[in-house]
Amino acid sequence: YDYSSTIEFLLDWYDQNARILPWRENPKPYYVWISEIMLQQTRVEAVKSYFERFIHALPDIHSLAVVDEDKLLKLWEGLGYYNRARNLQKAAVILVRDYGGELPSDYTELLKLPGIGSYTAGAIASIAFHIAEPAVDGNVLRVMMRVSGCFDDITEAKVKKQLEEDIRAVMPKSRPGDFNQAVMELGATVCIPVGRPLCDKCPLVHLCQAYKNRTEDKIPVKKEK
Ligand code: ADE
Repeated sequence: YDYSSTIEFLLDWYDQNARILPWRENPKPYYVWISEIMLQQTRVEAVKSYFERFIHALPDIHSLAVVDEDKLLKLWEGLGYYNRARNLQKAAVILVRDYGGELPSDYTELLKLPGIGSYTAGAIASIAFHIAEPAVDGNVLRVMMRVSGCFDDITEAKVKKQLEEDIRAVMPKSRPGDFNQAVMELGATVCIPVGRPLCDKCPLVHLCQAYKNRTEDKIPVKKEK
């Protein structure tokens, strides 16, 4: 499937529908990193107040690198998956030691850091550094599998890898971060996982193979392991 046909519709829709979120107002690399790690297992609405409190207490990479673990875990209390917080600090220590206390702008360098996988590396590279890398999470997999009418099992790593390659090939050089966030946002608010997707509100409905074939409730395919 050629995802390039989705770009202008997604960007136009995002211009009209992007939510105002604390980490969007000032997309500093540190803010994008912290917010994306929080957002991995937690909803946007719940993340907002945790994010604000976290960056108020730990405003930069250096303060994260040296904070007491007790204080760090207190800031994370309620978000769960505490290894995310521990990995943030491990990465911050490495950033201070080896990277001059800054996040690298290079996708491959980002991937080497604890707690940063392809999704987070792509989100930081595209949103904070305007580099054309995909950021494929569950929302993006669902949206794109529906648009392309693809019945591949999204629990398989090779399906995500293939989608990353297909998106990378067409990513807009001008607004890569907005493109990635538009797909995430569409998945979170319109092309939703449970119940009926809100296809009458979707900017891609005219391209969508799942809509055309009435298979939106069959896609994405997730085989039980
Ligand atoms: N979910 C994960 N990252 C997000 C982002 N940057 N915007 C909206 N939803 C998200």
